Amino acid sequence: MDAVLSTLFSSGEEELYILDNLAYFMVFMAACTLVSLLFVNVPYGRYSSSKYGFAVNVRFAWFVQELPAFLVPMCLVFWTTCAKTSLLPNQLLIAMYFCHYVQRSLIYPFLIRGGKPTPFASFALAFVFCCYNGYMQIRYLSHYAEYPASWVTHPCFIVGSMLWSVGWLVNMHSDHILRNLRKPGETGYKIPTGGMFEFVSGANFLGEITEWAGFALAGHSIHSLSFAIFTAVVLTSRAVSHHKWYLAKFEDYPKNRKALIPFLL
Ligand SMILES: NC(=O)c1ccc[n+]([C@@H]2O[C@H](COP(=O)([O-])OP(=O)(O)OC[C@H]3O[C@@H](n4cnc5c(N)ncnc54)[C@H](OP(=O)(O)O)[C@@H]3O)[C@@H](O)[C@H]2O)c1
Repeated sequence: MDAVLSTLFSSGEEELYILDNLAYFMVFMAACTLVSLLFVNVPYGRYSSSKYGFAVNVRFAWFVQELPAFLVPMCLVFWTTCAKTSLLPNQLLIAMYFCHYVQRSLIYPFLIRGGKPTPFASFALAFVFCCYNGYMQIRYLSHYAEYPASWVTHPCFIVGSMLWSVGWLVNMHSDHILRNLRKPGETGYKIPTGGMFEFVSGANFLGEITEWAGFALAGHSIHSLSFAIFTAVVLTSRAVSHHKWYLAKFEDYPKNRKALIPFLL
Protein backbone atom coordinates (compact mmCIF):
# COMPACT_ATOMS: atom_id res chain seq x y z
CA MET A 1 0.00 0.00 0.00
CA ASP A 2 2.90 2.37 0.73
CA ALA A 3 4.20 1.53 -2.76
CA VAL A 4 0.83 2.53 -4.27
CA LEU A 5 0.82 5.84 -2.40
CA SER A 6 4.42 6.60 -3.35
CA THR A 7 3.65 6.08 -7.04
CA LEU A 8 0.72 8.48 -6.71
CA PHE A 9 2.49 11.19 -4.68
CA SER A 10 6.10 12.32 -4.96
CA SER A 11 6.22 13.57 -1.34
CA GLY A 12 4.23 13.88 1.88
CA GLU A 13 3.72 17.60 1.15
CA GLU A 14 2.13 16.71 -2.17
CA GLU A 15 -0.22 14.13 -0.59
CA LEU A 16 -1.23 16.58 2.13
CA TYR A 17 -1.89 19.23 -0.53
CA ILE A 18 -4.14 16.73 -2.35
CA LEU A 19 -5.93 15.79 0.90
CA ASP A 20 -6.62 19.48 1.60
CA ASN A 21 -7.94 19.96 -1.92
CA LEU A 22 -10.16 16.87 -1.63
CA ALA A 23 -11.70 18.50 1.45
CA TYR A 24 -12.26 21.84 -0.35
CA PHE A 25 -13.76 19.94 -3.26
CA MET A 26 -16.14 18.16 -0.87
CA VAL A 27 -17.34 21.57 0.37
CA PHE A 28 -17.87 22.59 -3.27
CA MET A 29 -19.79 19.33 -3.90
CA ALA A 30 -21.93 20.04 -0.83
CA ALA A 31 -22.83 23.46 -2.29
CA CYS A 32 -23.71 21.86 -5.68
CA THR A 33 -25.76 19.17 -3.90
CA LEU A 34 -27.59 21.84 -1.89
CA VAL A 35 -28.62 23.63 -5.09
CA SER A 36 -29.66 20.42 -6.91
CA LEU A 37 -31.66 19.18 -3.91
CA LEU A 38 -33.80 22.31 -4.14
CA PHE A 39 -35.16 20.85 -7.40
CA VAL A 40 -35.12 17.03 -6.97
CA ASN A 41 -35.47 14.53 -4.14
CA VAL A 42 -32.61 12.02 -3.85
CA PRO A 43 -34.04 9.03 -5.78
CA TYR A 44 -34.08 6.37 -3.07
CA GLY A 45 -36.52 4.64 -0.72
CA ARG A 46 -40.02 6.14 -1.02
CA TYR A 47 -38.79 8.49 -3.80
CA SER A 48 -37.14 5.76 -5.95
CA SER A 49 -37.49 6.05 -9.69
CA SER A 50 -36.42 3.82 -12.58
CA LYS A 51 -35.10 7.03 -14.28
CA TYR A 52 -31.90 6.66 -12.24
CA GLY A 53 -30.86 3.18 -13.38
CA PHE A 54 -31.81 -0.39 -12.63
CA ALA A 55 -32.78 -1.35 -9.09
CA VAL A 56 -30.13 -2.87 -6.80
CA ASN A 57 -31.22 -5.06 -3.87
CA VAL A 58 -31.22 -2.78 -0.83
CA ARG A 59 -29.09 -4.97 1.48
CA PHE A 60 -26.55 -5.66 -1.26
CA ALA A 61 -26.46 -1.93 -2.11
CA TRP A 62 -25.89 -0.79 1.49
CA PHE A 63 -23.27 -3.46 2.14
CA VAL A 64 -21.25 -2.89 -1.05
CA GLN A 65 -21.56 0.91 -1.16
CA GLU A 66 -20.51 1.37 2.49
CA LEU A 67 -17.79 -1.30 2.54
CA PRO A 68 -15.03 0.98 1.14
CA ALA A 69 -15.67 3.38 4.03
CA PHE A 70 -14.42 0.54 6.24
CA LEU A 71 -11.94 -1.32 3.99
CA VAL A 72 -10.00 1.67 2.60
CA PRO A 73 -9.25 3.00 6.12
CA MET A 74 -8.38 -0.53 7.33
CA CYS A 75 -5.79 -0.85 4.55
CA LEU A 76 -4.43 2.62 5.36
CA VAL A 77 -4.08 1.89 9.07
CA PHE A 78 -2.67 -1.65 8.78
CA TRP A 79 -0.74 -1.60 5.48
CA THR A 80 0.86 1.83 5.33
CA THR A 81 3.45 3.57 7.42
CA CYS A 82 1.33 5.67 9.75
CA ALA A 83 3.29 8.48 11.34
CA LYS A 84 0.55 9.52 13.78
CA THR A 85 -1.37 6.46 14.93
CA SER A 86 0.63 6.24 18.18
CA LEU A 87 -0.81 9.60 19.34
CA LEU A 88 -3.90 9.60 21.59
CA PRO A 89 -5.98 12.32 19.85
CA ASN A 90 -5.44 10.64 16.48
CA GLN A 91 -6.27 7.22 17.95
CA LEU A 92 -9.52 8.48 19.49
CA LEU A 93 -10.66 10.22 16.30
CA ILE A 94 -9.85 7.15 14.21
CA ALA A 95 -11.77 5.03 16.73
CA MET A 96 -14.85 7.29 16.39
CA TYR A 97 -14.75 6.91 12.61
CA PHE A 98 -14.42 3.11 12.83
CA CYS A 99 -17.19 2.74 15.45
CA HIS A 100 -19.58 4.36 13.02
CA TYR A 101 -18.48 2.50 9.91
CA VAL A 102 -18.22 -0.95 11.47
CA GLN A 103 -21.89 -0.56 12.38
CA ARG A 104 -22.91 1.10 9.10
CA SER A 105 -21.11 -1.22 6.68
CA LEU A 106 -21.01 -4.58 8.46
CA ILE A 107 -24.17 -4.58 10.63
CA TYR A 108 -26.75 -2.04 9.38
CA PRO A 109 -27.27 -3.59 5.90
CA PHE A 110 -28.25 -6.95 7.40
CA LEU A 111 -30.80 -5.41 9.80
CA ILE A 112 -32.83 -3.61 7.10
CA ARG A 113 -36.48 -4.74 6.96
CA GLY A 114 -38.42 -4.42 3.73
CA GLY A 115 -36.29 -1.55 2.37
CA LYS A 116 -36.92 -0.37 -1.20
CA PRO A 117 -34.31 -1.29 -3.86
CA THR A 118 -31.67 1.37 -4.53
CA PRO A 119 -31.38 2.89 -8.05
CA PHE A 120 -27.97 2.16 -9.58
CA ALA A 121 -27.00 5.86 -9.78
CA SER A 122 -27.51 6.39 -6.01
CA PHE A 123 -25.61 3.18 -5.27
CA ALA A 124 -22.65 4.15 -7.50
CA LEU A 125 -22.45 7.69 -6.09
CA ALA A 126 -22.50 6.38 -2.51
CA PHE A 127 -19.74 3.87 -3.35
CA VAL A 128 -17.49 6.60 -4.79
CA PHE A 129 -18.22 8.89 -1.84
CA CYS A 130 -17.26 6.17 0.68
CA CYS A 131 -13.90 5.52 -1.06
CA TYR A 132 -13.18 9.26 -1.28
CA ASN A 133 -14.15 10.11 2.27
CA GLY A 134 -12.61 6.97 3.81
CA TYR A 135 -9.24 7.82 2.26
CA MET A 136 -9.47 11.53 3.12
CA GLN A 137 -10.47 11.13 6.79
CA ILE A 138 -8.20 8.26 7.75
CA ARG A 139 -5.11 9.09 5.72
CA TYR A 140 -5.16 12.58 7.23
CA LEU A 141 -5.68 11.32 10.79
CA SER A 142 -3.27 8.39 10.57
CA HIS A 143 -0.38 10.15 8.84
CA TYR A 144 -0.64 13.94 8.92
CA ALA A 145 -2.90 15.38 11.64
CA GLU A 146 -0.92 17.05 14.42
CA TYR A 147 -2.55 17.96 17.71
CA PRO A 148 -1.01 19.40 20.88
CA ALA A 149 -0.31 16.67 23.46
CA SER A 150 -3.08 18.12 25.66
CA TRP A 151 -5.68 18.23 22.85
CA VAL A 152 -7.83 15.50 24.46
CA THR A 153 -8.48 17.79 27.43
CA HIS A 154 -9.27 20.82 25.22
CA PRO A 155 -12.96 21.91 25.44
CA CYS A 156 -13.34 21.47 21.66
CA PHE A 157 -12.26 17.85 21.87
CA ILE A 158 -14.36 17.11 24.96
CA VAL A 159 -17.54 18.77 23.65
CA GLY A 160 -16.96 17.35 20.16
CA SER A 161 -16.53 13.80 21.49
CA MET A 162 -19.68 14.14 23.60
CA LEU A 163 -21.67 15.39 20.61
CA TRP A 164 -20.27 12.54 18.52
CA SER A 165 -21.33 9.97 21.17
CA VAL A 166 -24.83 11.38 21.65
CA GLY A 167 -25.30 11.71 17.88
CA TRP A 168 -24.18 8.14 17.25
CA LEU A 169 -26.57 6.77 19.90
CA VAL A 170 -29.49 8.85 18.60
CA ASN A 171 -28.73 7.72 15.04
CA MET A 172 -28.62 4.02 15.93
CA HIS A 173 -31.64 4.20 18.25
CA SER A 174 -33.71 6.03 15.63
CA ASP A 175 -32.74 3.58 12.87
CA HIS A 176 -33.76 0.80 15.29
CA ILE A 177 -37.19 2.42 15.81
CA LEU A 178 -37.73 2.75 12.03
CA ARG A 179 -36.73 -0.86 11.45
CA ASN A 180 -39.18 -2.13 14.04
CA LEU A 181 -42.14 -0.30 12.49
CA ARG A 182 -42.32 -3.16 9.99
CA LYS A 183 -43.16 -6.75 10.75
CA PRO A 184 -41.16 -9.28 8.70
CA GLY A 185 -42.38 -9.14 5.08
CA GLU A 186 -43.98 -5.67 5.36
CA THR A 187 -42.79 -2.83 3.12
CA GLY A 188 -45.24 0.01 3.91
CA TYR A 189 -44.77 3.11 6.05
CA LYS A 190 -46.08 3.93 9.55
CA ILE A 191 -45.73 6.94 11.85
CA PRO A 192 -42.54 6.53 13.89
CA THR A 193 -42.86 7.15 17.64
CA GLY A 194 -40.50 7.17 20.62
CA GLY A 195 -37.01 8.56 21.17
CA MET A 196 -36.22 11.70 19.20
CA PHE A 197 -39.07 10.91 16.80
CA GLU A 198 -41.35 12.53 19.40
CA PHE A 199 -39.72 15.83 18.38
CA VAL A 200 -38.60 15.49 14.76
CA SER A 201 -39.42 13.43 11.65
CA GLY A 202 -35.74 13.01 10.77
CA ALA A 203 -34.47 11.72 14.12
CA ASN A 204 -31.93 9.34 12.53
CA PHE A 205 -30.65 12.20 10.36
CA LEU A 206 -30.45 14.59 13.33
CA GLY A 207 -28.32 11.96 15.12
CA GLU A 208 -25.95 11.53 12.18
CA ILE A 209 -25.59 15.28 11.58
CA THR A 210 -24.80 15.79 15.30
CA GLU A 211 -22.33 12.92 15.19
CA TRP A 212 -20.21 14.32 12.36
CA ALA A 213 -20.51 17.90 13.65
CA GLY A 214 -19.01 16.61 16.92
CA PHE A 215 -16.30 14.76 15.00
CA ALA A 216 -15.47 17.97 13.13
CA LEU A 217 -15.26 19.94 16.38
CA ALA A 218 -13.02 17.32 17.99
CA GLY A 219 -10.93 16.85 14.82
CA HIS A 220 -10.56 20.58 14.06
CA SER A 221 -9.60 20.10 10.41
CA ILE A 222 -10.98 21.05 7.02
CA HIS A 223 -11.21 17.31 6.30
CA SER A 224 -13.59 16.54 9.16
CA LEU A 225 -15.46 19.83 8.64
CA SER A 226 -16.08 19.13 4.94
CA PHE A 227 -17.61 15.73 5.81
CA ALA A 228 -19.83 17.32 8.48
CA ILE A 229 -21.01 19.96 5.97
CA PHE A 230 -21.71 17.37 3.26
CA THR A 231 -23.64 15.18 5.71
CA ALA A 232 -25.67 18.15 6.97
CA VAL A 233 -26.65 19.16 3.42
CA VAL A 234 -27.69 15.66 2.32
CA LEU A 235 -29.51 14.69 5.50
CA THR A 236 -31.27 18.04 6.10
CA SER A 237 -32.83 17.63 2.67
CA ARG A 238 -33.93 14.06 3.49
CA ALA A 239 -35.44 15.16 6.81
CA VAL A 240 -37.38 18.02 5.19
CA SER A 241 -38.61 15.76 2.35
CA HIS A 242 -39.70 12.99 4.74
CA HIS A 243 -41.47 15.54 6.98
CA LYS A 244 -43.50 16.96 4.07
CA TRP A 245 -44.23 13.41 2.87
CA TYR A 246 -45.52 12.33 6.34
CA LEU A 247 -47.72 15.44 6.63
CA ALA A 248 -49.23 14.72 3.20
CA LYS A 249 -49.69 10.97 3.81
CA PHE A 250 -50.95 10.80 7.42
CA GLU A 251 -53.85 13.02 8.53
CA ASP A 252 -53.12 12.17 12.17
CA TYR A 253 -49.38 13.02 11.91
CA PRO A 254 -48.34 14.87 15.13
CA LYS A 255 -48.71 18.58 14.35
CA ASN A 256 -46.06 19.72 16.85
CA ARG A 257 -43.35 17.50 15.35
CA LYS A 258 -40.66 19.40 13.39
CA ALA A 259 -38.56 18.16 10.44
CA LEU A 260 -35.04 18.16 11.93
CA ILE A 261 -34.45 20.55 14.83
CA PRO A 262 -36.71 20.08 17.88
CA PHE A 263 -39.15 23.01 18.42
CA LEU A 264 -37.56 25.03 15.58
CA LEU A 265 -37.35 23.58 12.04
N1 LIG B 1 -23.52 10.56 6.24
C1 LIG B 1 -24.30 10.65 5.17
O1 LIG B 1 -24.05 11.48 4.30
C2 LIG B 1 -25.51 9.73 5.04
C3 LIG B 1 -26.20 9.71 3.82
C4 LIG B 1 -27.31 8.88 3.72
C5 LIG B 1 -27.74 8.11 4.79
N2 LIG B 1 -27.05 8.14 5.96
C6 LIG B 1 -27.53 7.35 7.12
O2 LIG B 1 -27.99 6.08 6.70
C7 LIG B 1 -29.12 5.67 7.46
C8 LIG B 1 -30.28 5.34 6.53
O3 LIG B 1 -30.57 6.48 5.73
P1 LIG B 1 -31.90 6.56 4.86
O4 LIG B 1 -31.86 7.87 4.15
O5 LIG B 1 -32.08 5.30 4.09
O6 LIG B 1 -33.00 6.62 6.04
P2 LIG B 1 -34.59 6.49 5.96
O7 LIG B 1 -35.14 7.07 4.70
O8 LIG B 1 -35.11 7.03 7.25
O9 LIG B 1 -34.85 4.89 5.88
C9 LIG B 1 -34.22 4.04 6.77
C10 LIG B 1 -34.93 2.66 6.73
O10 LIG B 1 -36.15 2.74 7.45
C11 LIG B 1 -37.26 2.49 6.59
N3 LIG B 1 -38.28 3.49 6.96
C12 LIG B 1 -38.10 4.83 6.95
N4 LIG B 1 -39.22 5.44 7.39
C13 LIG B 1 -40.11 4.47 7.64
C14 LIG B 1 -41.47 4.47 8.12
N5 LIG B 1 -42.11 5.61 8.40
N6 LIG B 1 -42.11 3.29 8.25
C15 LIG B 1 -41.45 2.11 7.98
N7 LIG B 1 -40.17 2.05 7.55
C16 LIG B 1 -39.50 3.21 7.38
C17 LIG B 1 -36.75 2.66 5.16
O11 LIG B 1 -37.48 1.85 4.25
P3 LIG B 1 -37.65 2.21 2.68
O12 LIG B 1 -36.32 1.89 2.02
O13 LIG B 1 -38.75 1.30 2.22
O14 LIG B 1 -37.98 3.68 2.55
C18 LIG B 1 -35.31 2.20 5.32
O15 LIG B 1 -35.23 0.80 5.27
C19 LIG B 1 -29.47 6.82 8.41
O16 LIG B 1 -28.93 6.52 9.66
C20 LIG B 1 -28.73 8.01 7.79
O17 LIG B 1 -28.34 8.92 8.79
C21 LIG B 1 -25.94 8.94 6.09
